[in-house]
Amino acid sequence: MKEIGLITVAFDDEAKEIIIIDQTKLPNETRMLRLSSSEEFYEAIYLLKVRGAPAIGVFAAYAAYVCACGCPSSDFESFYAEFAKKRDYLNSSRPTAVNLSWALSRMDKVVLEHKNEHVADILAAMKSEAELIHKEDEDACIAIGENALSLLKPGYGLLTHCNAGWLATSKYGTATSAMYLGHERGYDFRIYCDETRPLLQGARLTAYELSAAGMDVTLQCDNMAASLMAAGKIDAVLVGCDRVAANGDTANKIGTSGVAILAKHYGIPFYVCGPMSSIDASLESGKSIPIEMRKPEEVTDMWYARPMAPSGIKVYNPAFDVTDHSLITAIITEKGIYYPPFSF
Ligand code: MRU
Repeated sequence: MKEIGLITVAFDDEAKEIIIIDQTKLPNETRMLRLSSSEEFYEAIYLLKVRGAPAIGVFAAYAAYVCACGCPSSDFESFYAEFAKKRDYLNSSRPTAVNLSWALSRMDKVVLEHKNEHVADILAAMKSEAELIHKEDEDACIAIGENALSLLKPGYGLLTHCNAGWLATSKYGTATSAMYLGHERGYDFRIYCDETRPLLQGARLTAYELSAAGMDVTLQCDNMAASLMAAGKIDAVLVGCDRVAANGDTANKIGTSGVAILAKHYGIPFYVCGPMSSIDASLESGKSIPIEMRKPEEVTDMWYARPMAPSGIKVYNPAFDVTDHSLITAIITEKGIYYPPFSF
């Protein structure tokens, strides 16, 4: 059995198992999961055991390969019919991060490109593609970090929202990549992270991973960002993204748009960091980005010993919001830094 350290997503080809850290258990417990069925893959994405747009994409690529390994191998038609069912099932697990459908489409394309070959050869090509998607994400994160770091100065106060760290990607993260690189180079950033209600990705994941790396991190409730900015503590905001439309409108974790509005008010640069795989140029604007709505219990019950709202209360619980392109100073990708007017 392949031994792995703390990696967000790893693959054990011999066992045909995807290995992840169960992010719902962090920071109190580091539990590794080995998953091998389409139902387990779907549940891991839906329940946010694996989460963050790039990590979902990498996970989905391996998931597509493992599912394909279990499809009939007698002829291409039967193989592809079964594979397409599993692909669509995985694709329905979460709607907003485009990396999910992007990775599944890449895997699908490889299957179709090799349709005249033996199923064993199709599978070999799929495995290589999943590994390539994984490697590309790791390289993209480092390049995003270098590009973002070029905009920051030593001693800066940086605010981030949700978790766009190594737990959300293959390595270094996107919004956090410049923080890791700056930390290695003695930039002495003061980092602030929003707790990120209702699922607390900032408190449970970002505060955890950045403090474990030895950075100066301060946690705050989401409604404290204005106070922090008014106090002059923030020099730049760095966030990740789940889907960027052609005009630069950006879907990211719920609350991001509010932070961008505050940043504009206080004259603080607001940077969106993400790989090109999170850009969906097929959508003209953010109005067409599908926004995931989640269960009321995440707001009323989760994390509390007893429910903290009246039983049966109506709850508004969108998992993402769209930050208007007019609020974004720059979109930082592995290919470079894009400034307004955005046109992807
Ligand atoms: O619901 P989540 O935790 O998957 O949401 C994650 C985010 O919103 C991240 O900021 C985004 O996926 C970018 S991760 C590099």
